[in-house]
Amino acid sequence: MNEDTLALRRQMVDICRRMNSSGINQGTAGNLSVRDGSGFLITPSSLPYDIMQPEDLVEMDFDGTYVGRRPSSEWRFHRDILRERTDINVVLHCHSVYATTLACHHKTIPSFHYMTGVAGGTTIRCARYATFGTQELSDNALEALQERKACLLGQHGQISLGENLEAALWLAIEVETLSRIYVQALTLGEPPVLPDDEMTRVIEQMRRMSYGLAPDAEGVADVARRRT
Ligand code: 13P
Repeated sequence: MNEDTLALRRQMVDICRRMNSSGINQGTAGNLSVRDGSGFLITPSSLPYDIMQPEDLVEMDFDGTYVGRRPSSEWRFHRDILRERTDINVVLHCHSVYATTLACHHKTIPSFHYMTGVAGGTTIRCARYATFGTQELSDNALEALQERKACLLGQHGQISLGENLEAALWLAIEVETLSRIYVQALTLGEPPVLPDDEMTRVIEQMRRMSYGLAPDAEGVADVARRRT
């Protein structure tokens, strides 16, 4: 195994453990994949993250063949998303409590709060339910992820995508926080939504600033100038 692959595998183990320690996942639920070479690396099925080692990660090809342990039962949606979505390199799936609460009611998250825009659109959709590990679930997830970097999975959990591992974890935590606020807001009735033209401005501003991901990114300069 070369140094780069080993470093990537170590980072995957770290992200899996942080998925649980941050409270957005529990036990052996959830899974993670990263594009690597001509295929991708994916977490093995049912292996607790606290004992998972870099060498336990499974090397998979887009034809579904693999080397190593038995891959995550959700390898189909990881494979299909990585194949279709050339704008991202990481697929993170978890069973975060509030996102899953909304998914149990098949609720789409509307633009009740400007942060809905972090997933790239005016809503975060909920994919139709299908049995875990099936091609049907993968098809439903891809549909819900159209022009989005996150979706809920009906009666199951959430999926967040990223250009890199940190970005995917960041987004998954944001989706969970937003879900929590939405569940809370719903206790006072269905909250009003921001109009589409405002959400277009929000999404554009987020893009320009690499919002939440790169505080030192170029685009920030026109909003505030660093004193020298
Ligand atoms: P795996 O352990 O097979 O990845 O399954 C966990 C899960 O969350 C299924 O959706």
